[in-house]
Amino acid sequence: MRKIGILGGGHVGATAAFVAASRDLGEVAIFDIMEGMPAGKALDMTQTAPVLGYDGLVTGSHDPAILAGSEVVIVAAGFPRKPGMGRMDLLKKNVEIAEAAGTIVKTHAPDAVVICVTNPLDVMTWVVQQTSGFEPARVMGMAGMLDSARFSAFITMELGCSPKDVRAMVLGGHGDSMVPLARFSTVNGVPITELIPADKIEAMVDRTRKGGAEIVKLLGTGSAYYAPGSCAVLMAEAVLGDTGRILPCSTWADGHYGLGEVYVGLPIQIGAGGVTKIVDLDLTDDELAALAKSAGGVAKGIAEVKALLA
Ligand code: LAC
Repeated sequence: MRKIGILGGGHVGATAAFVAASRDLGEVAIFDIMEGMPAGKALDMTQTAPVLGYDGLVTGSHDPAILAGSEVVIVAAGFPRKPGMGRMDLLKKNVEIAEAAGTIVKTHAPDAVVICVTNPLDVMTWVVQQTSGFEPARVMGMAGMLDSARFSAFITMELGCSPKDVRAMVLGGHGDSMVPLARFSTVNGVPITELIPADKIEAMVDRTRKGGAEIVKLLGTGSAYYAPGSCAVLMAEAVLGDTGRILPCSTWADGHYGLGEVYVGLPIQIGAGGVTKIVDLDLTDDELAALAKSAGGVAKGIAEVKALLA
């Protein structure tokens, strides 16, 4: 059976574990530094298998060796935001956790593809990549899918259509300057620019940019986890199935879109080894400028981490 590792058994990690198990991705192993909790959640999920009818065993431990043999590891460890906090405010708190995660995957799952969910997303994905020493193609960040899912949900709410027919595209860093691309967002192939007035699209773009904060404020404590955990699993599924799905994910830009050495959300093709290709879209000057601005924010975060670790 295939194996998927979950590093961090909090809300995002546990949701990812449950979604992965219920979609029959294979054996799911949850690691968390807390004693008891990961094993407890795993046992609960194992006991759900006869109810929902999935095959995969779910295990959990505070020993990271439980991740051994994972083909994909989802890094979901870290502190979430509190109301009023920006994602970058988490940088100092989460950098050590991301470093530990990189070391753990290198030690216990050296052949895995890694999907990072820890915030500030793009910067922490870079930290995990650097610490693991894995080639950048094997370390991706989950955010573009989440931001696109939010944009899709708002399109669905506006049109009263089925979410199954909506595909949205949000690029850039997972922050307030992310770049929702209306002309690449469609309802069954029809661009939303044909269906929704420009002012309403602008309002949805704005709500998408603030989508994480809207939920943080409503929850009062912690941040979103159902959509984030589910998106990470869908990326894992693309890796395990070598499906070639094209999804917006945080990836090592390495010159694409005129961007330099930075992790940022771009459309990538996902296969067995992780990122098999960065898809180069023909963006307008305004879109490229927005993407460059967003990537600049991530680059600043990376510089901050470098200064912290120096
Ligand atoms: C969000 C947080 C998790 O966007 O970044 O919900």
